[in-house]
Amino acid sequence: MTTDPFGLRSLDPERLAARPGVKWQLHPGLLAAWVADMDFPVAPAVTERLSSLLANGALGYPNWGTGPSPAARLFVDRMHSRYGWDIDVDQVRDLADVLQGVRLAVGMLTDPGDAIALHLPAYHPFLHTLRDMDRRLVAAPFDLDEFAAVLTREQPKALILCHPHNPTGHVFDRSELSRIAELAVEFDMVVISDEIHSDLVYEPGCHIPFASVGAHAQARTITVTSSSKAFNLAGLRWAVMHVGHEGFDAALRDYPDHWFGAPNLFGVEAAVAAWTDGDEWQRAVMGVLDENRHALSDLLAVHLPEVAYTPPEATYLAWLDCSAFGSGDEPRQLFMERGVDVSPGPQFGEPGSGFVRLNFATSPEMLERIVIAMAGS
Ligand SMILES: Cc1ncc(COP(=O)(O)O)c(C=O)c1O
Repeated sequence: MTTDPFGLRSLDPERLAARPGVKWQLHPGLLAAWVADMDFPVAPAVTERLSSLLANGALGYPNWGTGPSPAARLFVDRMHSRYGWDIDVDQVRDLADVLQGVRLAVGMLTDPGDAIALHLPAYHPFLHTLRDMDRRLVAAPFDLDEFAAVLTREQPKALILCHPHNPTGHVFDRSELSRIAELAVEFDMVVISDEIHSDLVYEPGCHIPFASVGAHAQARTITVTSSSKAFNLAGLRWAVMHVGHEGFDAALRDYPDHWFGAPNLFGVEAAVAAWTDGDEWQRAVMGVLDENRHALSDLLAVHLPEVAYTPPEATYLAWLDCSAFGSGDEPRQLFMERGVDVSPGPQFGEPGSGFVRLNFATSPEMLERIVIAMAGS
């Protein structure tokens, strides 16, 4: 029995550099540590299932019947078994991607000019969504007393909760979630909870779906998630939404089935394989990620001691404070010149000034190469 049954620790740098896809091809020649794709080979269960579809030429219309896809149905079971959250399959809908769910909720439950709260720094497509949809961004402090004061002042119609949080890796605990739920009731706020990173929480932490903290929370929440982050399937375009919010549920029921698009065969089949037979692979991935998030502290201490970093509680994204590094608001530029592609902090909003986000979902050896290159040594 090998200690690396899924080949997570032995990635070939040349093969990675040649891998198609935006992560490695946007800036060929640089070490890619930016967009949230993992460098690891896909779970064997997923490869086998998709290969079998191809081998059988089974690429026609699927035989799923009406209503939610098999992956969306499996989502109900998974929420029960992993998180003790019991939901009704009638409130579950397939999506093309998580952002589609966020945009549908923002578009149908709020109006142009309305304020929407969001924790900053924020996953940048949320910022673009608010700007493009003419909604007013209200910065939500992580401190909940401060958040209450902001709500009193700004009266946002909705909160986009990124839980676990990208890019900081913060996992909201039960007391935080309960307080946010109370505030949502008090200020009559819709909560759009993006839980795409939920399977990437490190022990002893645990993910608690926001809507599961009580019926009062669920009744005003839209939860959006996908198998795509934890199983590295982002190109397959499948996500799922639980609509606890009654008004939104009713509004969606006014549209014919598949009005917003029908789910992709490969996306659904991959999610089913991942959630049925992929957990051993995912546990192995979490083992490497856990090791990497701590190894990164040691590597930075040796090679880039001016960079401040706290290992995230979830995700494979490190939020690096480079403000003491002497490279200004946009430290990414220097790292790019040194051969490493990281995400620019300012992309995540004004508090990201002086930061970069580094993706450590790679082999320990590649991570070391990345940090050494960033240090210019
Ligand atoms: C918080 C968050 N939401 C959504 C997404 C993207 O999901 P999708 O491609 O399904 O829209 C990402 C991708 O990194 C993410 O980090």
